[in-house]
Amino acid sequence: MNRRSILLTSLTALAMATCSIVISGCTKEGPAGKDGKDGQDGKDGKDGTAACISCHAPDGIELAATQYDYSKHAFGEQAYARSGIPGCSPCHASEAFKYICLNNVPATFTLNSATGRYATDFVVPQSVAYGDITCSTCHSSIHATYGPGDLALTTIAPVDLNMWGGKKTIDIKADGGRSNLCIKCHQPQPITQATDGNVLNYEALAANPGGIIFSPESSNNLIIPQYRTHPHYGTTGAIFAGVGGVEFPGVAYENSVHTRATSCQDCHMAPMQGKSGGHTFFSKGNFNGCNASGCHTGVTANSDGYWKTPRANVKAALDALAAKLNIGGIDVLNRNPDASHNLWAANSTNRYDGYLNIYDPVNNPSGVADNPGGIFQNPAPAASWTQAQKDFNATLPKLTLTNAQMGAIINFQLCLRDFSLGIHNYKYTMALLNNSINALN
Ligand code: HEC
Ligand code: HEC
Ligand code: HEC
Ligand code: HEC
Ligand code: HEC
Repeated sequence: MNRRSILLTSLTALAMATCSIVISGCTKEGPAGKDGKDGQDGKDGKDGTAACISCHAPDGIELAATQYDYSKHAFGEQAYARSGIPGCSPCHASEAFKYICLNNVPATFTLNSATGRYATDFVVPQSVAYGDITCSTCHSSIHATYGPGDLALTTIAPVDLNMWGGKKTIDIKADGGRSNLCIKCHQPQPITQATDGNVLNYEALAANPGGIIFSPESSNNLIIPQYRTHPHYGTTGAIFAGVGGVEFPGVAYENSVHTRATSCQDCHMAPMQGKSGGHTFFSKGNFNGCNASGCHTGVTANSDGYWKTPRANVKAALDALAAKLNIGGIDVLNRNPDASHNLWAANSTNRYDGYLNIYDPVNNPSGVADNPGGIFQNPAPAASWTQAQKDFNATLPKLTLTNAQMGAIINFQLCLRDFSLGIHNYKYTMALLNNSINALN
């Protein structure tokens, strides 16, 4: 019995005791008959608020909601920015995400016979392409039955990866598969082929490092590199799971213990520490997850073995790979020292942002004081450019890319944008970076 039903039961008993029944006649009053035996207490009715309180308690949703204000899911601007876009809203807008999960929308690419090109099936109708990421995005049954089961997660199903048209799947089994909820959104996006719109085949790149993937001389290139040729931002899920890179041969591809034994929530929803933990989903500066029982003890930001050394090694490997991706004295990777725009500025010495150092008059103009980027010639100027912009572009040096360079770029992007400098999956991260460096040698 909980506190509330104990209170109700004792109130009922008190009421019954004080209202014993008096029988009165019309003529002569005889002695009052003996009181009848009290009836049995009625069964407590269903308490209208008990079910509500299982969630609406100060240490339940009220606390989660307070923490959630500090989550980038809540304060970030991408949900609003990407609403109305059928291919972006599935991970950026609440109604779209729930639609994708509820309807099992596949991650496949299908050939459109009218256009002769492939297109992704991971899209939603315009009518659901909206909604801030909020409680019901992840707990989609809230208020369906008003029971505690309503907090169940929207999905824990294995995730078919968009980046390979659904041909590979991530299934993190720890803690009942709850990481799969996060990975459904925090997964890389496909890089598509210029020739047919299908997903780029990473295995083919790894198998033929000497091949040319882009030459300014060819009219049949698989990829036409642009400033934003990249596998998107949410690469954490793939690196954590130990998939998703261009796996050049060399050091074996293995995973750290984290992949098998932990879930995202262990570190990202650990007991609060400042602005991180719980429903903020941040882990920065919060070591409560690391030091949970059965895991590590005494890990802090000053620990060498479990924090400083592995992170320094990954940063050094990112730096070394970036140095290899320098053609004729020019970085192929774009630098952006502005940490308010470059989320990964601290993760490499030259403050790369994972974009390419290619001219784009809108997104990457060159020669601008605060932007050192935009140095290589854009191989596909847009019709909307001014003649002056086209003329300027033509003066810039041309870029040619081998499969090894393209694969190395992708691996750099994946590992940089993983944020954690190896904490998610040290072994896989180091194998990808070191094998990429070897492939370029
Ligand atoms: C499974 C957990 C759960 C149960 C059970 C539950 N609620 Fe809620 N309720 C929520 C969550 C989560 C929110 C959203 C909180 C927020 O956005 O800050 C919410 C929000 C609300 C709101 C604010 C309006 C809104 O929709 O955002 C009201 C009112 C409310 N609940 C009433 C109730 C009542 C009354 C009951 C019991 C009959 C109940 N709830 C049972 C989880 C629950
Ligand atoms: C519906 C898709 C979706 C789900 C599910 C989701 N996320 Fe996110 N997450 C996002 C998006 C989109 C952003 C960036 C929001 C923005 O910038 O406006 C984000 C941002 C974050 C950030 C901040 C990253 C930064 O840039 O600093 C963290 C940390 C995070 N998510 C962790 C998680 C964890 C842990 C889970 C699972 C419990 C999860 N997310 C589930 C879509 C999702
Ligand atoms: C498979 C899920 C998914 C899809 C589809 C998706 N995104 Fe994202 N996007 C994310 C996640 C997750 C993040 C947050 C990553 C992080 O901070 O770790 C994000 C972040 C972003 C950011 C913020 C980057 C930054 O530097 O702050 C932008 C901009 C963005 N997405 C644009 C788009 C656009 C445009 C599309 C459609 C063409 C799109 N996204 C489709 C998952 C997705
Ligand atoms: C990005 C996904 C996500 C969002 C958004 C989200 N939650 Fe959760 N919530 C989770 C996960 C994951 C758990 C842990 C569940 C598990 O381990 O089974 C959880 C657990 C809970 C619990 C159980 C107690 C606890 O704290 O572990 C409550 C209560 C709760 N959430 C309320 C909320 C409320 C209220 C909101 C909105 C203010 C919200 N959640 C938004 C993912 C989310
Ligand atoms: C073993 C602990 C651990 C696990 C498990 C873990 N992370 Fe992280 N995560 C980290 C650390 C540490 C950072 C870097 C924090 C910093 O910058 O100080 C990080 C950073 C991130 C960031 C960037 C925002 C931030 O908090 O700095 C995102 C997004 C993210 N992780 C998502 C995920 C997802 C999704 C999963 C599950 C697939 C996951 N993480 C599993 C430890 C973990």
